[in-house]
Amino acid sequence: MRLIFFGPPGVGKGTQAKRLSERRGIPHISTGDMLRESIAAGTPLGLKAKSFMNVGNLVPDDVIIGMIEDRFAQKDVREGFVLDGFPRTLPQAEALDRLLTRLRIPIQGVLFFTAPDEVVVDRISGRRTCSRCQATYHLRFQPPKREGTCDRDGAGLLQRPDDAEAKVRERLKVYQAMTAPLIPYYEKKGQLRRVAAQGGVEEISAEVERILTAIQ
Ligand code: AP5
Repeated sequence: MRLIFFGPPGVGKGTQAKRLSERRGIPHISTGDMLRESIAAGTPLGLKAKSFMNVGNLVPDDVIIGMIEDRFAQKDVREGFVLDGFPRTLPQAEALDRLLTRLRIPIQGVLFFTAPDEVVVDRISGRRTCSRCQATYHLRFQPPKREGTCDRDGAGLLQRPDDAEAKVRERLKVYQAMTAPLIPYYEKKGQLRRVAAQGGVEEISAEVERILTAIQ
């Protein structure tokens, strides 16, 4: 399947994208994870991105589009993919359309995850991320087996620098201004499917599968 998952920060789209990627054996392409990997590696792209991410702003479109074009040069995307956190602006959506038309692998569905701001802020403020593999946990909703330690690789868990409450509020504002216009964009194309994302992780995964069965 070739899918886009989008919605406000912290709504749980990354959690669902990772689960779907494991269930279906398709790549999970998260621009947020790719940027954090570049920051950890100290690359020029990472250094540039860090200054925007740390204050809750979007990284410039040309940087992100270049990164996605490089990723789509890899063969594994031919088997399908789930895009998470991209596109996030209209110019990014238009660039993706051009790229996928050129590659002849059109998007099959756009899943739009929604939840009230309080739910999102609660999810983000309790999130902890593995310093090595970027697996995500939540202090209350998805705690690791051993406090402060990743179940997968035993590395330490950290709070992302942009997960402080003031930065989350800024990210929500940026989301409304820059990303929400994608809702009518994909509605007009007949590709948008809404996912009410307030329930538990398993419940939402079941809803995602129900939607995918309907569009397959
Ligand atoms: P990115 O990493 O993409 O962050 P985001 O979109 O803000 O989304 P999050 O990762 O915060 O949340 P999520 O919806 O994936 O939630 P999660 O599943 O982790 O981007 C970070 C930054 O990079 C951006 O601000 C920007 O600067 C830059 N960037 C990235 N892409 C860009 C682009 N295309 N253009 C420009 N800039 C870009 O869940 C959150 C928490 O809730 C977790 O703790 C999880 O365990 C928990 N949880 C999940 N589901 C549930 C549930 N159902 N019930 C209870 N808890 C749950």
